[in-house]
Amino acid sequence: MEIIVPGCAPKNPPPGDTKTTATTAKVEELLSQLTLEEKVGQMTQVCIDVVSVTENGVIAEPHQVDPVKLRKAIVDYHVGSILNVANHCYSRDHWYEIMSAIREMSEQNQCKIPVLYGIDAIHGNNYCENATLFPQQIAMAATWNPGLMEQAASITAYETRAAAIPWNFSPVLDIGRQAAWSRIWETFGEDVFLANQMTQAIVKGYEGSDIGNKYKVASCMKHYLGYGFPVSGKDRTPAWIPDNFLREYFLPPFEQAVECGAHTIMINSGEINGVPVHASHYILTEILRNELHFEGLAVSDWEDIIRLHTKHHVAATPREAVRMAVMAGVDMSMVPYDYSFYDHLLELAREGSVPAWRIDEAVRRILTLKVKLGLFENLYYPASDYPDFASEKHRLASLEAARECITLLKNEDHVLPLPKNARVLVTGFAANTMASLNGGWSHTWQGDQADRYASDKLTILEAIRSAIGENNVAWAEGTRFDELTDIDRALQLARSADYIILCLGEMAYCEQPGTIGDISLPPAQAELANRLASAGKPVILVLTEGRPRLISAFAENMDAILIAYLPGNEGGIAITDVLFGDVNPSGKLPYTYPRSPNALINYDHKYTEQVSEVVSIPQFEFGYGLSYTSFSYSGLSLSAGDIRSADSLRISIDVTNTGNLAGKEVVQLYISDLYASITPPVKRLRGFQKVELAPGQTQTVIFTIHPSELAFVNADSQWVTEPGEFEVKIGDQAGRFTLND
Ligand code: BGC
Repeated sequence: MEIIVPGCAPKNPPPGDTKTTATTAKVEELLSQLTLEEKVGQMTQVCIDVVSVTENGVIAEPHQVDPVKLRKAIVDYHVGSILNVANHCYSRDHWYEIMSAIREMSEQNQCKIPVLYGIDAIHGNNYCENATLFPQQIAMAATWNPGLMEQAASITAYETRAAAIPWNFSPVLDIGRQAAWSRIWETFGEDVFLANQMTQAIVKGYEGSDIGNKYKVASCMKHYLGYGFPVSGKDRTPAWIPDNFLREYFLPPFEQAVECGAHTIMINSGEINGVPVHASHYILTEILRNELHFEGLAVSDWEDIIRLHTKHHVAATPREAVRMAVMAGVDMSMVPYDYSFYDHLLELAREGSVPAWRIDEAVRRILTLKVKLGLFENLYYPASDYPDFASEKHRLASLEAARECITLLKNEDHVLPLPKNARVLVTGFAANTMASLNGGWSHTWQGDQADRYASDKLTILEAIRSAIGENNVAWAEGTRFDELTDIDRALQLARSADYIILCLGEMAYCEQPGTIGDISLPPAQAELANRLASAGKPVILVLTEGRPRLISAFAENMDAILIAYLPGNEGGIAITDVLFGDVNPSGKLPYTYPRSPNALINYDHKYTEQVSEVVSIPQFEFGYGLSYTSFSYSGLSLSAGDIRSADSLRISIDVTNTGNLAGKEVVQLYISDLYASITPPVKRLRGFQKVELAPGQTQTVIFTIHPSELAFVNADSQWVTEPGEFEVKIGDQAGRFTLND
């Protein structure tokens, strides 16, 4: 079998086809009619708070749009875009009310250009009541199954449009190589190859081949570029990334998404090598436009133009910040709370400090997006066009993804799966909250109200009770996130249990509020784990967490460990299915799980980083994950021992299910460039394939590798392959080949 690389959605049609010609003609006609004020307005995006009814300065409840403020935004300031929700998520009906108020107001504006609404529907339409919530991106990556990602994205697009919203600030294409970073869970993990495969799938799922389709949305690749690698691990703090490393590790998913036709991009709030990305002409224009040939809309991140002045200190005035960002290549400013961007840009344009061509270029991109989304014909479609919104079919797709992300990290003496007649003690705060299953961007920005909004969904505890009967399940919270609660009760209940299911991890968080000073799980969680371990009953540790918090203080004492990341609303059921054997786990880690705080290295580190076993051996390796069955690898064979750069190499391997259960295995191909002109990483993932095998079944898996797929970016920032010897590793099998000139 050949490796299946999921294909991109068909790219934007070549210039010259009828649809493109009609779009261009419409955009040019509109552009020629707009005043400067209207153009600058198009480039302005405000948040919904700006147009909402307030009482004593606070958004009134229930949320309502204020017609006076809306008139000011749309008629006086001609704003091109509105985003977000105020405080909490809305019903579909309320979304329709908002959109219809916006449409009516746009009709009163002489330019009558529809307003583009955008939200962060990052794992389902998470700001809409009852929408289907999927596992977060990191968990989707752990499935190593791009097909599931495409399905989840496609349903998300459907349910987002079903709430009248056409623009989704997703996917996150930052490579998560800093384990402590509070947004690791929004990424596809630390590896570029895996992220690239998932990127293709998610963009295809969101956009399909036509974003004008009423079941598709415009995606927004973010946060371009290099956001996922803050040196300190703290959100929006400086990154130092050499150009070659930037291009080899951080640029490829964006390139991939552009290839797949992604229509918009959001800029990294941070700085790289001392240059805030919002002010980087090199990154926003030279690389993005001249090299990647991206033609879509570039939107700033939250308040980030203002922050060039207030936080980054590269612009001496707010007005200069606007000039810098627009001239660097930002087309739309997520201002978001006022009209300062509009006022400054208008002045700058009138005096010629921002030339007319640059304004036209930005507005052309914005209008093109609006035309392609079909907003001029239908700002939104009737709710009745979306019968599958929050359907059982969609729920089952989320459940399937949640089941497939769960990664079994330890299973001493095959303690798992548990018998269904077992008596269990469930303990640990994460067992009984939807917040630890969903994480941030769930109903609210910080995800802290998941228990209210997802009250009809099952927590881990509720799902276990429903699976094996309430009488067989004892419950003690044991610990909150960082403080012990009823530990004595937990220990007492442990005496009459056959097994202890200990649910630890993180509360929901997002962005800067999720910043931590210590990557270890809090001491209270470690203490609960160790004291339960001494109770003499097998302890099964279930982790639900956004990033790999250290568990080395107690991992040795656990009999089994599984991680579910942030598996979404169906996570409680999926975890239970794995615990009791209804599902054989097949997830694999999309990041390296560190063992100690000063050893946060990635799997594709340099040889010199292997300084000693103590600091170099992680808790669990990238790509690791057990199954209830076992697999063996044999017969690695390479089509040639020597290849030239025009050849391709066929690598085949036999994988056998040697156990008694059907199971899925992710066959991972690693290749090491043994010597190179800049220090090579110890290995790189160059292919994978997820196969399902019946007991005793053997399958031959074939990868075809072209030497260009072994390329790296050299010291001159050029992609190169260099002749020399390479080592291939799949499972415990290894082989070598030589690449000649
Ligand atoms: C985040 C973005 C998000 C934007 C709009 C920012 O704070 O960094 O990821 O899309 O807010 O909600």
